[in-house]
Amino acid sequence: MRQHAIKTGIFKVAALAAAFCSLQVNAAPLRDVVKGQDTFIGAALETRHLQDKQFAETLAREFNQLTPENEMKWSYLQPERGKFTFDKADKLVDFAQKNDMMVRGHALVWHIQNPDWLENGDFSKEEMLKIMEEHITAVVSHYKGKVKYWDVVNEALDDNGGWRPTLWYKALGEDYIAKAFEFAHEADPDAILVYNDYSTEGKSPKANAAYRLVKKLKEQGVPIHGIGTQAHLVVGVQPRVADIAANIERIKELGLEFHFTEIDMRMQDPATDRMLQQQANMYEDLANLTAYFDNVNFFTTWGISDKYSWIPHWFKGYDHGLMFDKQYQEKPAYTAVNKVFADKAQGKFDWEPPAPLADVGRRFEAFISNEAKQAMPLDGDIAKWKEAVFYPFAYNQLGGKDLTLPAESNISGRFALLFDDNTLYGRVERRDDKTVIGNKEQVWENDSVEVFLGFGEEFAQIRALVGEEFAPTAFQADIKNYWSEDGTVMEFSITPKQTDTLSGTTLGFNIALADNDAGPEAGRSAQLYPVPGTNNGWQGHDFGEVFFTAQNTEISDKLKGQVVSFKAEPVDGLDATSAFDLSQWENAYHYPFAFNQLNPINQTPPSQDIIHGTWRVAYSGNTLHGVVHRHDNKTVTTGDDWQADNIEIFIKVGEEFVQLRSIVGQDFQENTFPGKRVAKWNEDGTIMQFSIELPVDSLAGKTIDWNIALADNDDGESRSSQLYPVPGNNTAYLGEQLTILEFVK
Ligand code: XIL
Repeated sequence: MRQHAIKTGIFKVAALAAAFCSLQVNAAPLRDVVKGQDTFIGAALETRHLQDKQFAETLAREFNQLTPENEMKWSYLQPERGKFTFDKADKLVDFAQKNDMMVRGHALVWHIQNPDWLENGDFSKEEMLKIMEEHITAVVSHYKGKVKYWDVVNEALDDNGGWRPTLWYKALGEDYIAKAFEFAHEADPDAILVYNDYSTEGKSPKANAAYRLVKKLKEQGVPIHGIGTQAHLVVGVQPRVADIAANIERIKELGLEFHFTEIDMRMQDPATDRMLQQQANMYEDLANLTAYFDNVNFFTTWGISDKYSWIPHWFKGYDHGLMFDKQYQEKPAYTAVNKVFADKAQGKFDWEPPAPLADVGRRFEAFISNEAKQAMPLDGDIAKWKEAVFYPFAYNQLGGKDLTLPAESNISGRFALLFDDNTLYGRVERRDDKTVIGNKEQVWENDSVEVFLGFGEEFAQIRALVGEEFAPTAFQADIKNYWSEDGTVMEFSITPKQTDTLSGTTLGFNIALADNDAGPEAGRSAQLYPVPGTNNGWQGHDFGEVFFTAQNTEISDKLKGQVVSFKAEPVDGLDATSAFDLSQWENAYHYPFAFNQLNPINQTPPSQDIIHGTWRVAYSGNTLHGVVHRHDNKTVTTGDDWQADNIEIFIKVGEEFVQLRSIVGQDFQENTFPGKRVAKWNEDGTIMQFSIELPVDSLAGKTIDWNIALADNDDGESRSSQLYPVPGNNTAYLGEQLTILEFVK
């Protein structure tokens, strides 16, 4: 590791040189400015770009590091099995050597840009490992002594921080990561080996997952030396600088380097001066972080000029991500970055990372809309929904404080979302014992599907009665739908006029299933939503969010919906050590266990016959009380504790986080969380009551981070479902994806 003292020593020399140069009007080229700062100012490029004279000149003048944008990817280097083609990549390495630039190799193991023979080879586990070893060994040995840094594994995590189901993961499980590093290290023990990913800049769940991954690798003694964060950012939705700083800090504590490896900051076309200035501010932030932290030594942009950027090809409607424009003119971003490093060279750098801000408040994961990558017919065929995540209609918002669901045969359903360009596609599946659509006076009292969208200040509610088209609204969009004959399936498309791409955006979102069983003269008995609330969705209240995710998009850290919270009210005289009087709970908020987080593509819970449950909480003083009702066709309490039928409660108060587990019939398991607590079950395991003392004086008016889960094991081996009140991917045990519990005064 480089030492701070050495760096400062070098500054003084550099400061003199820079002071001498300051007579010049133009700023010195970046690579000259950072001389002695132990910083790589890099750029990605393709071999063909070198034929553009202006490109080659700018590259050699401004940058001291290069990354092959594509030429070291698998499909380029080993297009046929065992046949390596290095010529294009070699040209880049030659250019680097001639111009005294460091080369960063990118990327040894990735899930895209792989040759067909590898993608479709249907290899056994042993073969896949061998193929990986052969490739890494051949490539790293070929460039030994010429390529010092390698992105060994690229993008192993999905956008929620789970494992991305890549060809490598599917064949080898998570071990493929450690193996890749070991093979690379064997081939070149002097190479600096890095894990590289995107949306890992700050403290998002994905950044936390990347941190845990490299920490684990490090602890296992795997030869890993750094983490690269790509920093493909969007102007206006940058992760908070304080969070990036805190992330760099914890990576530093692991003894690892931190690299900005693929910086660009896109904006919608056409660019305005204001947006270019905002972009400059964001570039300045990353430059400041690079200059400030001695474990940050790569500031690499994904291209040089906007002329050849990948952005317009991948993010329709977006462009202008780099420091030089299409004519190689310096943009405000360039000037800002140059100034940061020049200040440092002159001993004038006095920037410090801002203190962490309070949390933004997203406490209900956004619903995910994956990319369909094609226009979709509206025909009811489920086959085209393979890439989508299904979510349940989870809460009945018509029941006042009782948000639990009616019997599933009465009314129940699930929905899924996908998108293509600027079209949102949806599918709703609905089960209803009686369909009523004849109320002409009050149309909202009929059986219907309602979709609610929030675009900035604009809000749209669109409604289709069962079997009918969406009623016209003022909302500027093309809206279409399809109903199956029997009214059980609806598919729709909404193409808003405001934007020509949804990719990477987060919108306010809600969807509701209304049920009238009493006839055309009467009203609804239920209206089901995927979020809890007060049935004011039509006024834009109690909004959830939808995130349109695609390769290299990241969820906005600004909440587009509202903070959806769960509520506990004060009660007197509850004490879980004696039997609760259940009548005391009659007026408490009542919530279902709604989302099966064990199934990432279908979070709809199993049939109510297999497992279902509800929960209520209340408080007195500093003690939280609760009661859980659970209906299970088969109770299994043997085997690993976390696999057994149990209830888990997750609580975070300040920095104190705890997971409390009670296996059916048993008290909470031991742990070090301060305060008294007890869990007590009735004879047949259908009711659990609990009290938990929290490390605060009083709960009145406070909120805590919270979650609760109902695990169901039916085969004696492992859980088949784990139900939570919120969507997610079962990472609450890590302190992620918690929601808010509000102690109403
Ligand atoms: C991109 C290239 O820029 C494109 O030319 C190519 O078509 C696809 O890949 N994350 C990475 C890079 O790690 O390898 C990707 O590069 C951009 C996202």
